[in-house]
Amino acid sequence: MNSSIRQNRKIVIAVDGFSSCGKSTFAKLVAARLGYIFIDTGAMYRAVTLYAIEHGCVTNGILDEDKLIAALDDITISFRFNPDRGASDIYVNDEWVEGKIRTITVSNLVSRVSAIGEVRTRLVALQQEMGREKGVVMDGRDIGTVVFPNAELKIYMTADPEVRAERRYLELQAKGEEVSREDIVANILERDHLDQTRAISPLRKADDAVVLDNGGMTLEEEMEWFDTLFAQRVKSL
Ligand code: DC
Repeated sequence: MNSSIRQNRKIVIAVDGFSSCGKSTFAKLVAARLGYIFIDTGAMYRAVTLYAIEHGCVTNGILDEDKLIAALDDITISFRFNPDRGASDIYVNDEWVEGKIRTITVSNLVSRVSAIGEVRTRLVALQQEMGREKGVVMDGRDIGTVVFPNAELKIYMTADPEVRAERRYLELQAKGEEVSREDIVANILERDHLDQTRAISPLRKADDAVVLDNGGMTLEEEMEWFDTLFAQRVKSL
């Protein structure tokens, strides 16, 4: 990438979209390209979900919302850069939980947790603080609409559910998790529905977001697409 583009004043890049679209992979590569900080906000909702599971807020798959809301003051979320991954790992109350937040158990509950207003208020405030100095690429569902409505560049990612399910399946298989394709497709479709229809901050494309349908694209093609978009955008600032 042209160094004059890289050295321009830092901006906020919001990457929103459906589950398992490759948002984090895309956002991480973009951040590395620009020397920006990458923040995976889905990991924050997943970390709160894990806390709920591990602290008696879930019984037989049913979430006790009041108990979780009452526990929110006890949950401190932070990120620490992990050079092996080239991204930051997430910690809850100083415990490394990065390896535990992407299981199907957490995935099945996270949409419920992320629909709770009190959870969102706290995490959004934390995300806004993390992006205060700009120079961030933040991925999630409401970054361009709620967290940073004035972000200089907003990208809305999408891909066919079957393509997304296959990606998530291969990812979980590589980690040794025993799951069926059917369970993953069901989880993705359910999360799409819950994320788009929840009352607070539903997933929707910000009016000024640029759509990236990466279903048939390689990562190289995604980066070429981004470089062109970024160059145009910084020129117009
Ligand atoms: O990106 P992900 O699949 O890891 O996100 C997990 C869940 O968190 C997703 O089902 C919706 C929720 N989420 C959200 O509500 N708002 C965000 N900014 C990020 C994620």
